[in-house]
Amino acid sequence: MSKQLLLGQTLSFTGDPFQADWSEVTRTSSRGGVLVEGNRIAAVGEADDLRRAHPEADVTDYGNALITAGFVDAHMHYPQTGIIASWGKQLIDWLNTYTFAEETRFSDRAYADEVAGRTLDLAFAHGTTTLTSFCTIHPESVDAFFGAAAARNMAVIAGKTCMDRNAPDGLRDTAQSAYDDSKALLQKWHGKGRATYAITPRFSPTSTPEQLEALGALWGEYPDCPMQTHLSEQIPEIEWVRSLFPEARDYLDTYEKFGLLGPKGLYGHSIWLEERERARLAEVDASLIHCPTSNTFIGSGLFDLMGLASAGLRVGLATDTGGGSNFSMLHTMAAAYEIGQLRGVSVHPAQLMWLATEGSARALHMSGEIGHLGAGAMADITVLDLGSTPAIKQRTDRAEHLWDALFPTIMMGDDRAVRDVWIAGKRALR
Ligand code: GUN
Ligand code: ZN
Repeated sequence: MSKQLLLGQTLSFTGDPFQADWSEVTRTSSRGGVLVEGNRIAAVGEADDLRRAHPEADVTDYGNALITAGFVDAHMHYPQTGIIASWGKQLIDWLNTYTFAEETRFSDRAYADEVAGRTLDLAFAHGTTTLTSFCTIHPESVDAFFGAAAARNMAVIAGKTCMDRNAPDGLRDTAQSAYDDSKALLQKWHGKGRATYAITPRFSPTSTPEQLEALGALWGEYPDCPMQTHLSEQIPEIEWVRSLFPEARDYLDTYEKFGLLGPKGLYGHSIWLEERERARLAEVDASLIHCPTSNTFIGSGLFDLMGLASAGLRVGLATDTGGGSNFSMLHTMAAAYEIGQLRGVSVHPAQLMWLATEGSARALHMSGEIGHLGAGAMADITVLDLGSTPAIKQRTDRAEHLWDALFPTIMMGDDRAVRDVWIAGKRALR
């Protein structure tokens, strides 16, 4: 089996920095090493020790660049790559004006293939090694995404987006076809290579009760699959949900009622939660996915990251491309920091890095497999240049410790900060 030794600064986690003091659960080395055997990480330690113990390993020396677990994007829409940064609308108008028009194009398999490949290549360029994506209503769009990911040996989570109302012609399925198509795609892709199938009702306003019920039944048959959707993103959306489901106790209840609340549920945004919703999400151990650039770009609100993560809920971090305004998880961490500041809390860079790697993996129930720089994990690794632009470098040059050196890259970095990416033990960037 091939042995690779990556040398540089290293950052790994032994626990959750929202539950323990960050300093107790982070491991850093200014001259560390990561030993990769085949497609997995075999050891993380000091550079000199690993070199001595494994003289036969091929060495890649990254100097003082930072070796970290690859970033895990826990919620995005690959079909929206082409319409990222579309101006001037809030959620419902943004969906109707830009999103639905673009998603209609994914009945064309060749177009879906092209955008899927482009999106995955953009993800690598930005240091993201796992994407969790909504597709479109078209089964072809799912085949395109999983196919492109398999060609790159990338772990992805995705599913056919289901909508049978409040969407334009050409972008609606039915309760029955959503069930049948989702089931066929699940059977085709779930567990194949690095693919995970997620049952994917878009959100309550675009599904009839019959469709939600059918997808709840499907989840009941395949509880091992995640289920992804949107929850409480924007006030007018919540009011719309209330008018569509007058007997529901709250937004979450529109999922709960139909079997769409459970431990492998991934609830994107979850900004305006009521007390009952918070308590139920915690009780069933569901995952909340924070999409901070989207929340500021679409004008949705300020997610209670510190409150929810400190309470022990599973929280993942995500770009929500193309409602999110940037492909970079660095930029996404910066936005999470800024939203924290607007709520009066300062999220530590260790907490931001944990969220973008371990936290997202935990939200996806893939802890120890992805998002983890430690023995046994898949070797999905990102290497960051901490002085990638003159503006960042002049700040980092005066840094006295790793966090001081890393935070300017979190706040100001982009794809230029990504020195290298490894996927399943192989260099992916060049
Ligand atoms: N809610 C329902 N669909 C979407 C979407 O595509 N993006 C965002 N941000 N919110 C949604
Ligand atoms: Zn979304």
